[in-house]
Amino acid sequence: MIVAPSILSMDFTQTLKQLQEVESSKAKWLHVDIMDGHFVPNLSFGPDITKQIRKHSKLFMDVHIMVEDADHYSDVFVEAGANLLTFHLEACKDAESVHRIISKIHHQGCQVGLSIRPQTPVEAVFPYLSVIDLVLIMSVNPGYGGQSFMEESVDRIQRLRKEIDAHQHSVLIEVDGGINAETGHKVAQAGADVLVAGSYVFKNDIVSAVESLWKLK
Ligand code: DX5
Ligand code: ZN
Repeated sequence: MIVAPSILSMDFTQTLKQLQEVESSKAKWLHVDIMDGHFVPNLSFGPDITKQIRKHSKLFMDVHIMVEDADHYSDVFVEAGANLLTFHLEACKDAESVHRIISKIHHQGCQVGLSIRPQTPVEAVFPYLSVIDLVLIMSVNPGYGGQSFMEESVDRIQRLRKEIDAHQHSVLIEVDGGINAETGHKVAQAGADVLVAGSYVFKNDIVSAVESLWKLK
């Protein structure tokens, strides 16, 4: 399993120390949550902090933008060093703009993910599976770390896994929100490839929490 610790739950007075612990764990990715106070009712980091994290980490940088202006901020965070840029389908006005943002990000040499909130039917991402690298299924309402996993996410992941396999799309399924060893096991069984975990990783021993997710499946 690919594990992507979410730095939203980091102790920011210990940033370097915690980053080093993540580097020494089985984590291959680092999940960076960007919030604009409009698309979600919270604010997080901007491009300057993202660039500094980039400088101090060799991990694959997985940037999740929970913002209304996905077109503008995708440029900003690709520039800040994202290896994969995931934006929300709900932030786009029509299919044409979704396709335009996807190909723009690809032309900038960055991988592309599409995310959906828990209330959006998973079938809404099906038309894009041949042109994206990853689908990010939100298993909590986006905006805050530390919420409980929504059980109905398991069925959404299974439906997406079936569609991806049926058409042999090369798309990863990432799950974000309320992931710990128990919920991680459920979503791994349902077909997830990447687990995002914030509080579970940073409120416990980092190396062993990551390892408990890494060994799933
Ligand atoms: C929620 C964020 C998540 C968050 C997950 O809006 O997208 O990445 O950091 O945190 P936990 O694992 O604590 O639910
Ligand atoms: Zn996230």
